[in-house]
Order: sequence, then C-alpha cells, then structure tokens
Amino acid sequence: MKVTVKANTNIALVKYWGKKDENLKIPLNNSISMTLDKLYTITTSDIFDNDHDQVIFNNKDASEISKNKIIKFVDLFRNEYKRKEKLIIKTENNFPTASGLASSASGFAALAKSINEVFELNLSDIELSKYARIGSGSACRSIYGGFVEWQKGNRDNGEDSYAIQLVKENYWDIRMMVVIIDDKQKDKSSTDGMKETVETSPFYPAWLDTIENDLNNVRQGILDKDLEKVGITMEHNCLKMHSTMFTTRPAIIYWKPATLAVINKVYELRKLGVECYFTIDAGPNVKILYDQNNSEKIKKEIMSVSDITNLIECKVGSSALII
Ligand code: PMV
Repeated sequence: MKVTVKANTNIALVKYWGKKDENLKIPLNNSISMTLDKLYTITTSDIFDNDHDQVIFNNKDASEISKNKIIKFVDLFRNEYKRKEKLIIKTENNFPTASGLASSASGFAALAKSINEVFELNLSDIELSKYARIGSGSACRSIYGGFVEWQKGNRDNGEDSYAIQLVKENYWDIRMMVVIIDDKQKDKSSTDGMKETVETSPFYPAWLDTIENDLNNVRQGILDKDLEKVGITMEHNCLKMHSTMFTTRPAIIYWKPATLAVINKVYELRKLGVECYFTIDAGPNVKILYDQNNSEKIKKEIMSVSDITNLIECKVGSSALII
C-alpha cells in the first residue's frame, strides 16, 4: 500500500537545547513551537519487493549517511512490530536541508506517519511523536499543527517524552517570516552543538534554571493571543540559548553579520511601532513573529537588509497528514 504524507516543519518559541539521553533523544527541558505551513516534507513509502530498502532523497539516491539514518529509523518499527518487509521511501523537502530550518523535524515526522500507514500499525499521535523524537528530537513536535509543547518527561526510557498540541492552527492567526541569510549545510549539527554546550558552557545551568518561567509565559501568551508576551519571551529565550553556545568551549557561533543586521532591524521596527520579534535556531537564519497587518511593512524593511537571499512568510501550519 503506497502512502504519501506531508509534514510541516516547526520553529521553537521556547527552545530545546541539551539532551539527558543522546540515543533516545530525551531533552533536558520542555519546549514550545509553532508549526509552519510553508516549509514541509513530503514522504511516500511503499512495500518494496526486494531484499533491501531503497531511499530516494530530493529525487536522487540518498547519500549513505541519510540512507542509514532512515533505515535505522524504519528498523525501530520493524523490530517492535515484527515486520520483515523492505520499503521504498521517497522523501522531498520544499526548502534547504540542514540549514537551521528544521528539515529533520518535518522529515522524521513525515517518515514516522508514513511507516505507520504502510505497515497499518494504527499508532496514536503520542506514539508517533515518541518515534519521531528518536529520529530527531524536534520532529516530535511536527506531528501536530498549531502550537505544540514537547514535554521532556521523567522516565529514563523516554516513554513520557512526547509532544502534545496546545492549540489548533486556527486558534491564533499569527505570522512567522523565515529570513534566509544562508541556506548551505551548517558546519556543526545541533546534536553536536548541544552536547558540547551541556558539557562545557558555564551558562548552561542558568538556561535550565530559567526555562520554567519562559515556558509559563509563552504558554499563557499563546492562550491569551498576547503577541508582546510571547514575542518578548521568545527573544529572551533565543538569546539565552545562543549565550550558552557562545560560552561553549570551543565557542559555537551560528550567526553571520546579516543575522545581527536583521535583529537590529527588528528593534528599529519596534521603535517605529511595528510590533515584531525574532528568534534564531542552530543556523544564521532569523525567524520573525508578527501580526499579518504589519506584513508588508516588515517585508519591505527586512528586504532592505543586505545579504538576505529569501523571505518566506508562513501562517500557522496543520498536523502531519496523508495526502
Ligand atoms: O531536533 P534537533 O536536533 O534538530 O534540534 C533542534 C534545536 C533547535 O532548533 C535549536 C531548538 C528547537 O527546539 O527546535
């Protein structure tokens, strides 16, 4: 049975940075994200009448590394549910891979859901979220649309570490602009980056000590549709995460000069009364949160910054679904 799934990527408003368990990808803190409608992965899986799996990534044979990651992921399901069939998997992102745009998030969410369908496993969203988490931490949030919280859980086996939906995509009509500064593959993966941070940054304990407050503010801010509350907390949380990276040994700096130029532009816009807030993940690109009424003004101003290669304006996206 051939099945095609579309999963949207997500951007964290309160970030996940640091793992308690590297293999099971259990985080040291909860995180809250918004699912984006314009950046997604489409994955088609089918039973392959052969003695090996086949993986096609962005219309080409996948590299050994990507192929092995994907097969290892399918094996989690094969081992648990005693399935022997080989699969042919075609997966495609509509945006650059591994550039801090969360391609692995939509990728593993789409893959988990497509395997569930092709093997007819009838797993719940919570189960799929746990599997997606093992693929790539933040992927557990891309099973759902709207605003989503990944609960770190307390158990060592990861059974209670999964995401839940806080509100659906139609609850709050807000925009996120993805400002692309550099879409090349990043030098340091988030996996390596966060491990080094946990091990060496003297600021890491402060990250964990203050996370509860950020989570409470953003959760409440989303429920109240309070852009200022969500935005101010999101910026502060992002700068705290990057401060832990800057103080890692050796330092991790994902920013480019244009990253800082966009941050300054956001501050300038706010001074002029145009409400908007930034966040940045493990890469140089900036994401801006704002109300749609300010869309044209923000686009015009951000486009005037040099070294911006593209802007993608997103609405709140839906859950991973079969298409
Ligand atoms: O799930 P990963 O390994 O791609 O890590 C994601 C890390 C951040 O994007 C920086 C934060 C987050 O919560 O998405």
